[in-house]
Amino acid sequence: MEQGARPEASDVIVSVQPEAGLTEADRSELRAFPVAAYAPHHAEVFSRHDFGGGLPIARVIARGTEGGLAAHLGFSVRTIAVDGAEVRVAGVGAVATHPTHRGGGLGRAIFERLAEDLRASAAADFALLECRDAVIGFYAACGFGHSVLTVTALDPATCALDVSTLNLMVRPLGRATFPAGDVDLCGLRW
Ligand SMILES: CC(C)(COP(=O)(O)OP(=O)(O)OC[C@H]1O[C@@H](n2cnc3c(N)ncnc32)[C@H](O)[C@@H]1OP(=O)(O)O)[C@@H](O)C(=O)NCCC(=O)NCCS
Repeated sequence: MEQGARPEASDVIVSVQPEAGLTEADRSELRAFPVAAYAPHHAEVFSRHDFGGGLPIARVIARGTEGGLAAHLGFSVRTIAVDGAEVRVAGVGAVATHPTHRGGGLGRAIFERLAEDLRASAAADFALLECRDAVIGFYAACGFGHSVLTVTALDPATCALDVSTLNLMVRPLGRATFPAGDVDLCGLRW
């Protein structure tokens, strides 16, 4: 890569890393990454945890040629309920591209890698996440459809059920259509 040029997706290696294989050194790197990527928001949360919601089963990680973390997402597969019907989803969280790597297609690249992995394993029929208004366009560019839905989830602070209306982004993986209706995440958010 030319000095001073913006890193492009071709300058990185994207891989899926199972949670069970992470070392303590990996975890401290994973904690430092979102503190930098989300600053000034959520830095406090990620300084204590390397993931925001229910535990992930794996990460999709993009590393630059220099070896540093360039982009990250975590996911775990769970059966949720949509209007009472069972739906197998990969819930996604802690999505971030390092500020120096933004705008080079890495956000899209980690979602393409996720979709490839989920299609190959047939582990889930949809990738799913919630997001704030400011990044709906990014997820739309990554193949997600947007709905404002009533979502029930477990509140980690109180262990009570929390019902909210929020932006739910769903990317079908080619095997089914996401049903209509209220969503019960059947656990913690991602
Ligand atoms: C949002 C974020 C992950 C995008 O990462 P990125 O690597 O820069 O994204 P990409 O370069 O892969 O962009 C893919 C497409 O999304 C678009 N896009 C990127 N950010 C966008 C935004 N905030 N709003 C609308 N579109 C956006 C790009 O223009 C591109 O579209 P195009 O190829 O059709 O031109 C990154 O800005 C980030 O880490 N932000 C801080 C953390 C955060 O907000 N995470 C999401 C929490 S829900």
